[in-house]
This record gives sequence, structure tokens and C-alpha cells, in this order.
Amino acid sequence: MFFTVKDIQKRREKLGSKWNEILRDDEAVLIYSGEPVPKPGGLDQHYPFIPHPAYYWLTARRREDEIVLYNKNTGWVEFQKEFTIEQAIWEAEKDDLLVSEPGLNINHLKDYLEKQKFSSVYNLGQTSDIIVGKAFELRTMLDQTRRKKDEAEIKLIKHIAEIAAFGYKEIERILKPGMSEREIQIAYESVIFRHGSHTIPYDTIIGCGTNAAILHALPTRKIIREQEFVLVDAGADVFDYCVDVTRTFPSTANISSQHKDLYQLVLKTELECIEMTKADTFWRDVHAKAAIMLTEGLYDLGILRGNMQRLIEKEVISVFFPHGLGHLVGLRVRDTGQEENLEPKHYFGSRLRVDIQLEQGHLITVEPGIYFMQALLDSPDVQKKFKEEIDWLELEKWKHIGGVRIEDNVLVTEAGNENLTLCVPKSAEL
Ligand code: GLY
Ligand code: MN
Ligand code: MN
Repeated sequence: MFFTVKDIQKRREKLGSKWNEILRDDEAVLIYSGEPVPKPGGLDQHYPFIPHPAYYWLTARRREDEIVLYNKNTGWVEFQKEFTIEQAIWEAEKDDLLVSEPGLNINHLKDYLEKQKFSSVYNLGQTSDIIVGKAFELRTMLDQTRRKKDEAEIKLIKHIAEIAAFGYKEIERILKPGMSEREIQIAYESVIFRHGSHTIPYDTIIGCGTNAAILHALPTRKIIREQEFVLVDAGADVFDYCVDVTRTFPSTANISSQHKDLYQLVLKTELECIEMTKADTFWRDVHAKAAIMLTEGLYDLGILRGNMQRLIEKEVISVFFPHGLGHLVGLRVRDTGQEENLEPKHYFGSRLRVDIQLEQGHLITVEPGIYFMQALLDSPDVQKKFKEEIDWLELEKWKHIGGVRIEDNVLVTEAGNENLTLCVPKSAEL
């Protein structure tokens, strides 16, 4: 058991007191764990059930069709699902139910709601309702509270990082030319499963050579060659908590100085951005720092040319770094996200969904990268727009490298920050 009754109580108290600021006595909030999703055309088959993260966070229970309700007078009321004989025949009782006061039977929910005569009930868990008005405000409060990781969550995430570290060390140990991307995936995943990962938090990303330029490259049978990069973006997961880590490995020690220069640029940018990941800092400023450092780095390497101010203003870096610097992570790979940010703005050509001011307890990925993406570099629009800014001839010499990304999960702390995935080794030869 990773969470105690006390952990859950503390979360409920924190959130309840926030909600009390706007919730009336006769209103209630309801959080539904969700229903199993059937596989298309699959008789009696469902996708593995994942409880709505807010429900899991508030109950540490993982059953479908359950509800936790909050009202100022009643406090938190759980409506739980009975474990049926039918279920006992086909599946074992889940071993992860929190040992707390038994709740009410979910079958009594309708009667309960009728008796209480709430003026409004806001659905914030698994729902197809469009969340607007007061429900939107309540969900924002929920997300903002959940975004600050508590001690029990941090402890679990550190444990998961150690699991991922076993997988990455295995890659370091076995990686050699002649292996396929798939073989690396199988080696990594078998090790993390053996060390306690329940599942993978997202499809493991592995790209060698030019495949490293594909942001979400799924591992293929492509054979790793000498002197190339192998980009691995892989996590580990326990009860939907996870880490999201990227490392870029050289396939052989005699990697070219071009590879090394590019790697060092991304690494330097990552370390500087981690340094900036502190309370009160605006995330967009950290993203901007990465964009500027990478622009300067590509200029120094001769890939960009002209006036630095102009290169920055024209946002040419969006051709080589076309994604945001990071996202909230923890309970799921995109944690609370920032659903309250309805119209995400673009900074340096990237749409930043997470446009927050960092606070103590936030856990965010820092993942700069430089990629030579065929699709972007071949685009006539890009070629026209950046005809002067990119040294297209020089660029030809770099395309085979594919790309580099380095990603860590950084917790904002009172003293500054803590890199929770520091235990995952970074390439020594580079
Ligand atoms: N693993 C996908 C990502 O880094 O967002
Ligand atoms: Mn990742
Ligand atoms: Mn990520």
C-alpha cells in the first residue's frame, strides 16, 4: 500500500477547505471513477481499467463505477461498488483498496441524492459533461491542489524513478550496433517489469539514427549502426504514477564530434533550465531560456547565420525545437495538465499548454531537444521563411544525426528544486 488513510485525509482536507470558499451548503461535488471501456468488436473484452486520476487521488481505490461526493455539511461520502459473486468467479479481489471506513453502496446513490435535495451537483470525475461555470472553477481548484505533490506521492515517484533507472542501466549495458530498436525496447521493458513497474506510462519511444528526429517514434526492426544516436524516451508506472525520462545514447564510443557538440548543447540547455525551475518562475520564461540557448548553440555550430537578435525574433528555433520545454507529470504522464488554460499561447513557435507560475510541489518535465526533421526541413514554407537564417548547405552535414533529447522530472522545492530522475544515468562518453 503506497498511500495511508492519513495521506488521503490530508488531501481531502486541503481540497475541501478550498472548495468551501465557493461552494454553497446545498451544493455537492461528485467524482466518478469511470466505467470500463469495451474494446471495439472484442466480445467480453475491455481495456485495462484506469480510474479517473482525481478519484484515485482522493480515495486510493481503483474500482470502476464508484463515486466520492463532497458537500460542506456531509463532508466526503464514498459510494462503493459491491464485489459480486460474478466478479469473484472471473477476477480476483483487487489488493489495492484503501482500508478505511466502508462507504455506502453505489446502488443507494440515487436515493441519497433525492433525499439531500442538493440545488446543484457538479460532476468533476469521469464525465461527458462540458465543464463550465462554477464546475470549471471547482475543477481548477482541484487541479491546482492536486498539482502540488505531497510527501507520499514524491516517495512513490522516487521509487518509480529507481525502477526506470534499472531499465536505463540495462540499455547502457547491452546497447551495441546490430541490435534493433525493438530489442532495446524489450530489454528495457522486461527489466522495469521485473523491478515492479505495473505497466508502461506511455508507449516506449526508441529511435536510432534519423528516427531520433521523430518525437514519438515507436520502436521498429531498424538496426542500430555504429556511430549513431539512439534516443530512448521511456518511463515506468505504479498505480498510474510515473516518470517520463529521455536519454540519448551513442551506439559506439567513437561517436563523431558533431554528435558530441549537439549533445553537449542540449545537455547544457537542460541543466540551465533545471536550474531555473524554481518557485515563482514563469514556465514560459524557462521555455524561452531553452529556445534562446538552443538558437545561440545552433549559431555557434554554423547551422544558423545572421544577426542573433533577428534569429531569436524570427523564432527560427521552432524548426529544430518544435515542442514545449515540458509538462506536468506524476499521476499520469500528462498530470493535471492545465485545462484551465483554454487558449494556450505560442512562445518561440511552440504552443505552451502549461503556462503557469511554478509553485513548491509542482513536478514538471524539463526536456529540451534539437531535431533534424525531414518533414519540416523539406517544407517549402520553412525553406522560404528561413532562407537566410538557416545555412542550408551546412545543415546537410547534420541531418543524419536525427536528434537529441534529454528529459528529467524536476520537483519544485522550498530550497529550489530536486531532480527526481537524477538516478537515471546520462551517457558518460559524451
Ligand atoms: N514521453 C512523451 C513526452 O515526453 O512527452
Ligand atoms: Mn518523454
Ligand atoms: Mn515528457
